[in-house]
Amino acid sequence: MLHAVQAAFGHISEDAIRAVAKALNLSRAEVHGVVSFYHDFRDAPDPRPVIKLCRAEACQARGADALAASLPDQNRVVIETVYCLGLCSVGPNALVGDRPYARLDARKFAALVEQAH
Ligand code: FES
Repeated sequence: MLHAVQAAFGHISEDAIRAVAKALNLSRAEVHGVVSFYHDFRDAPDPRPVIKLCRAEACQARGADALAASLPDQNRVVIETVYCLGLCSVGPNALVGDRPYARLDARKFAALVEQAH
């Protein structure tokens, strides 16, 4: 339910927390606890595109950390860390929306950021 709210509105507002809590017969604190615990959920809108960059062992070994650092303007996108996209042999990898991107290098990652806008 929270994922659907986030997909529809880009964030989960206090009003949405109240409505979800009422619909599921939970306290607002319980729903707020879920929203604040999982970093996939936002409590405020952010218009920047999200790139989920894998930083698990295999992608880290292939330079995932350097990819994030290679961006000249790191505030153009939200780079979220994920741990393994199941594509370990072709890393470093990232996910934009539902689409995975493999074998990233600095040039491809910069192009991905441009494309995400
Ligand atoms: S470690 Fe990155 S996809 Fe598995």
